[in-house]
Amino acid sequence: MKVRTHRCGELTKVAVGQTVVLNGWVQRRRDHGMVMFIDLRDRTGITQVVFNAERNAAVHQASHALKSESVVSVTGQVMARPEESKNPHLPTGEIEIFVDAVEILNESKTPPFVIEDEAEVTEAIRLKYRYLDLRRPKMQRLLTIRHDIMQAVRGFLNKERFLEVETPILTKSTPEGARDYLVPSRVNPGQFYALPQSPQLFKQVLMVSGVDRYYQIARCFRDEDLRNDRQPEFTQIDAELSFADREHVMSLMEQMIVTVFRDAGGVQLPTPFPRMTYAEALGRYGSDKPDLRFDMPLYDVTAFGAASEFKVFKEAATKGGIVKALIVKGGAVLSRTRIDALGDMAKSFGAKGLAWLKLTTDGQLESVIAKFLDAKAFAAVLPDAKPGDLVLFGADKAAIVHDVLGRIRLLLGEELKLIDTKAWKPLWVVEFPLLDYAPEEKKYIFMHNPFAAPMDDDVAFLDSDPLKVRAKAYDMVLNGSEIGGGSIRNHRSDIQLRILDLLGINKEQAQAKFGFLLDALDYGAPPHGGIAFGLDRLIMLLGEADSIRDVIAFPKTQRAQCPLTDAPSSVSADQLKELRIKLDVIE
Ligand code: AMO
Ligand code: AMP
Repeated sequence: MKVRTHRCGELTKVAVGQTVVLNGWVQRRRDHGMVMFIDLRDRTGITQVVFNAERNAAVHQASHALKSESVVSVTGQVMARPEESKNPHLPTGEIEIFVDAVEILNESKTPPFVIEDEAEVTEAIRLKYRYLDLRRPKMQRLLTIRHDIMQAVRGFLNKERFLEVETPILTKSTPEGARDYLVPSRVNPGQFYALPQSPQLFKQVLMVSGVDRYYQIARCFRDEDLRNDRQPEFTQIDAELSFADREHVMSLMEQMIVTVFRDAGGVQLPTPFPRMTYAEALGRYGSDKPDLRFDMPLYDVTAFGAASEFKVFKEAATKGGIVKALIVKGGAVLSRTRIDALGDMAKSFGAKGLAWLKLTTDGQLESVIAKFLDAKAFAAVLPDAKPGDLVLFGADKAAIVHDVLGRIRLLLGEELKLIDTKAWKPLWVVEFPLLDYAPEEKKYIFMHNPFAAPMDDDVAFLDSDPLKVRAKAYDMVLNGSEIGGGSIRNHRSDIQLRILDLLGINKEQAQAKFGFLLDALDYGAPPHGGIAFGLDRLIMLLGEADSIRDVIAFPKTQRAQCPLTDAPSSVSADQLKELRIKLDVIE
């Protein structure tokens, strides 16, 4: 094989006349009789190479053996393309290579799909032949963005004196709220490692170790139901800082994200990022990760509902629930079928219904429930609703109303094209409640993770009204996606134990689960806090990828399988025997 002199995306007219060697894959072949054209591809792009029978009959003859995706080395001369065959869309579009020697380095079978961005192919086939899928320019671009983000992160954090430390993969369960992946131990029969859901416990221990500022581009494992932005195995940009309060962490991490978007994506994020409390985000947008690329807020009309004659509103409002409204600007034109479909959607999200009314051009209320409502009172409570608008209502417990209307809001934002797809809308969501209440289990559960510290003003409520306690936690949200989250931690074991106790984890259980952290806190743990960003989600946003599977080289399917390697799979009887495990799969 001749060593290449250039890459396939590099040559321009300044190289005209030079003899060059290119190595790459045959993207496409066009046979014009006496002349054969081949697009030669590598990671950097495509160059047109020409096999001309008049220039070299033997080489022209040889070109007939070049099949799609075969790997070849060509030697030839860079020529300026004739004016009419220049391709302004291609960086190499002004030149072509007249080939004098060709060597087939390896032949390829006919690939199951064409290696092009627009290839018509199912995801199952793409994942099975991932090596071919990754040859597509779009996938190469996403891999590059991933690389660029990681380099930008390292560059920024190194400058800020963070130390990159690796933490174990074979470890103990980390309580991030998902199910653990377990790995049996051969030398300790019957015992299991858990794969880390995050490096949370270790990074806190590293603070006690005096590392001061830690980061890691860390693999995390969570056995949970998969969605388009969730993988069982994903990557966090994980950081922790000693002697830092909320402001330190948030301002430094905001700078990091701004730098990363600028350096890896050429995107200037608007600064400073606005901040919104959890209560505001939920109340106004029905979500703790609001998409601020369009407004369409939720309006509280509980008092109006309570005073109305509509039973559904009245009951919700008087039984401790709420009534909220969404205004769809100009939505009075929507058909009944369309509105009913929204109602069905609301039901699938857990609502009992989705009441609606239209404001006619002369300001009348048009709706099956209009007879129960006072038009004057309505105009007073919702002056933003104008003639020609559609108003949708949710009446239920607050959590249901917010969730359902929040999701309907997003749906309409997309359907009605209200979202400014060019905009970047980051924000911080702060003051999360420390705890939530799970009525089925009749117990408190943590909102972020069990190590978040309560806000100083709220410590007193830990005994009297635990649900009122806000945490020193923060999430970074971008365009409606939760890209990162973290908190200031409990660096004193007494407060930590008290919170664990509220969570129903007593001292013995705490000791068994993460006694090492509690012990460490007692040996001079500095005040500390941190954050973790979802690297894969950052790439999705910068690379405009719809699926998290597109930004990971070798992802899992929705069924947590890898079609390339066929993992997970059965293991041999010998392997099980070594582990002293007998299989008895429960149906
Ligand atoms: P958290 O659980 O919020 O926090 O995770 C941090 C960020 O990781 C991303 N993320 C995921 N990405 C892809 N697939 C998943 N299954 C998945 N789960 C989470 C999200 C999320 O914001 N130890 C804490 C961080 C801390 O407190 O410092 C933690 O893991 O973008
Ligand atoms: P009904 O009186 O049950 O026929 O409902 C009248 C309208 O109120 C219908 O449009 C229902 O979708 C709607 N509706 C019923 N329950 C609720 C609810 N909890 N919240 C909002 N709308 C509701």
